[in-house]
Amino acid sequence: MEADKQAYTLTNNRTQTSITLPERRPVQGDPAVDISRLYREASLLTFDPGFMSTASCESKITFIDGDAGILEYRGYPIEQLAQHGNFVETAYLLLYGELPSVSELTDFTDIITHHTMLNKSLYNFFEGFHHDAHPMAIMVGVVGSLSAFYHDSLDIKNPRHRDISAHRLIAKMPTIAAACYKHNIGQPSIFPRNDLSYCANLLHMMFATPCEDYEPDPLAVEALDTLFILHADHEQNASTSTVRLAGSSQANPFACIAAGIASLWGPAHGGANEAVLNMLEEIGDPAQLDRFIAKAKDRQDHFRLMGFGHRVYKNYDPRAAIVRELCKKVLAKLGDHNNPLFELAQRLEDIALQDDYFIERKLYPNVDFYSGIIYEALGIPKNMFTVMFAIARTVGWVSHWTEMMNDPQQRIGRPRQLYTGYARRQYQPLTER
Ligand code: SDX
Repeated sequence: MEADKQAYTLTNNRTQTSITLPERRPVQGDPAVDISRLYREASLLTFDPGFMSTASCESKITFIDGDAGILEYRGYPIEQLAQHGNFVETAYLLLYGELPSVSELTDFTDIITHHTMLNKSLYNFFEGFHHDAHPMAIMVGVVGSLSAFYHDSLDIKNPRHRDISAHRLIAKMPTIAAACYKHNIGQPSIFPRNDLSYCANLLHMMFATPCEDYEPDPLAVEALDTLFILHADHEQNASTSTVRLAGSSQANPFACIAAGIASLWGPAHGGANEAVLNMLEEIGDPAQLDRFIAKAKDRQDHFRLMGFGHRVYKNYDPRAAIVRELCKKVLAKLGDHNNPLFELAQRLEDIALQDDYFIERKLYPNVDFYSGIIYEALGIPKNMFTVMFAIARTVGWVSHWTEMMNDPQQRIGRPRQLYTGYARRQYQPLTER
């Protein structure tokens, strides 16, 4: 992306140093002022907690228009990918930039399928966790330990190593996720099967037992595949930015993805899908809705409407609209047609979207608001909801990590700060304090 002829002049009032900063124009979206020379040439830092106004990098992977509620992967609208595509095809698109041909998709699917197994020693790691360990705690630990097994692909300067590590991570996440679940419920792990699709394999590994096989319902497989497409990537969200920052120090990809999993776990981010179900269960009765809406609006009350609001979307999250319709389809066949939590969630959305507090702040349902209702209808427990998110987002994380490592200009990320602590002072001997 070339610097545009537009420019901005800034003067350091202390030193009277002026600097002209070029404008960087994207293919789509808002322009940016390139401040990369600002500190070096004008001794000025910028201050932007939470990165509300900061573009941290260039990327060709995903585009979001928050005002219009638009999400595109490599230029393709999310609605079209969710309707016509599948998750493994989307993984190829995000990783390599183009929709695969028939032979490319067949080869890629075969590669992913043949990397789904875990080294048998890895299964011992799960036994080290107490049975009631949160699956995200187990997943962070196990994914971080993968670098202890794959010494043959840790040279991050080697494109082939980067590619095979991306394949291994995409392929093994469902196997690790299912093993987390089985450990939680005290059942032996079920190995992956090469005759099953990506999502059918995950459901089989979760719900089959050594005593009884499990044939995933085609609608359950379709619903999970669609949810994974919707969760696959979302430009520079907190966990993806975590992966990029970890990767900028040239840490190995397994450690970087473990860092992303840790960041995703927070209830302000990927942990929100589990928090939404807890919130709906806490509200319980539609008669309580007004009380909880009032709590969400009360700045003295820590309660927030989980699954509502977004840093970028100031319109309806396009993913939430798709998930809401998918909910109806899944509940009609697999769940409770009159699922009380789904009814409650829709009532909550209707009330909130007519309330000035939410309208003024442009707070709409996000991707996490309805997804848990589908997971629950598929028999997936609440503590596994964010694990599902992590499986899907691993595709986005490895795509951004690969894009960053392919950039010859790549350098370590090292932000500065505004120091507001004590000015320099002298040490006082203990006897004088
Ligand atoms: C994801 O970044 C991504 O792309 C993330 C994600 C992805 O795909 O990677 O889309 C996935 O993380 C979705 C978000 C999941 N989180 C939740 O649903 C948790 C509930 N939402 C909020 O905590 C909040 O909306 C955030 C964290 C999502 C966004 O926070 P911001 O952008 O920092 O907004 P803010 O906290 O500054 O809020 C602005 C105002 C405040 O009120 P005022 O101070 O102006 O009076 O809106 C209010 C907030 O109090 N507000 C809410 C609210 N979210 C914002 N009030 C009640 N309930 C909420 N959910």
